[in-house]
Amino acid sequence: MPPSEHSPNWDNLYREKTTPWDKGAPAPPLLEWIGANPSQIGGRVLVPGCGLGHDVRALAALADVTSVVGLDLSPTAVALAAEFSKVGRESYLTGDLFALDDAHLGTYDWVWEHTCFCAIEPSMREEYVRAVHGSLKPGAGLLGVFYLDPYDDEHQPGGGPPHGCSIGELSERFERSDRFRIEESFVPTRSYPGREGLERLVRMRRL
Ligand SMILES: C[S@@+](CC[C@H](N)C(=O)[O-])C[C@H]1O[C@@H](n2cnc3c(N)ncnc32)[C@H](O)[C@@H]1O
Repeated sequence: MPPSEHSPNWDNLYREKTTPWDKGAPAPPLLEWIGANPSQIGGRVLVPGCGLGHDVRALAALADVTSVVGLDLSPTAVALAAEFSKVGRESYLTGDLFALDDAHLGTYDWVWEHTCFCAIEPSMREEYVRAVHGSLKPGAGLLGVFYLDPYDDEHQPGGGPPHGCSIGELSERFERSDRFRIEESFVPTRSYPGREGLERLVRMRRL
């Protein structure tokens, strides 16, 4: 199923530099988790919806990571990401998570999720779970920071992205699909300013 026609034109937003989600630095909850769990993330990592790739480079700097693929629908984002100095075995790819090439299927040891799940139309969430599951090896890890409550005075549920979710929905979609088991879930102590207490760090095992 293609992304909804109501989705933003992400590439236009990058070309216009209308990218309020881009904080110019890796996601603080990712750095928090890596700090508390050194040497846990290794092998081949996929970062769907990587934008300018700040998280990709943070992951590529880890000793046990052999490759990180930052995937994004927007060719402009991918081109901008590739302009950053290389830190490890990272690469960037223009592509659609929902139409992953066969060469990516079942090949990843980890997926790092950050503001891709909340960016897609909620009607595509089942597809998201299927796509991420399909990219991972059996027993591999999905680590993600999920934006539970991204709403503010200007942006309410039913508007455009970011779209919120609940812990119950995460369990419903990921666990009850029999595709993942949630093994860790907590409110990160480190967040970008304005997101404190609104996110949930979740680590799952691909079944
Ligand atoms: C809100 S932005 C977040 C970007 C980045 N994670 C960050 O925090 O800076 C959402 C990103 O997801 C990308 N995206 C949306 N749908 C996608 C899809 N189906 N496949 C790959 N990337 C997608 C968009 O192009 C955009 O870069």
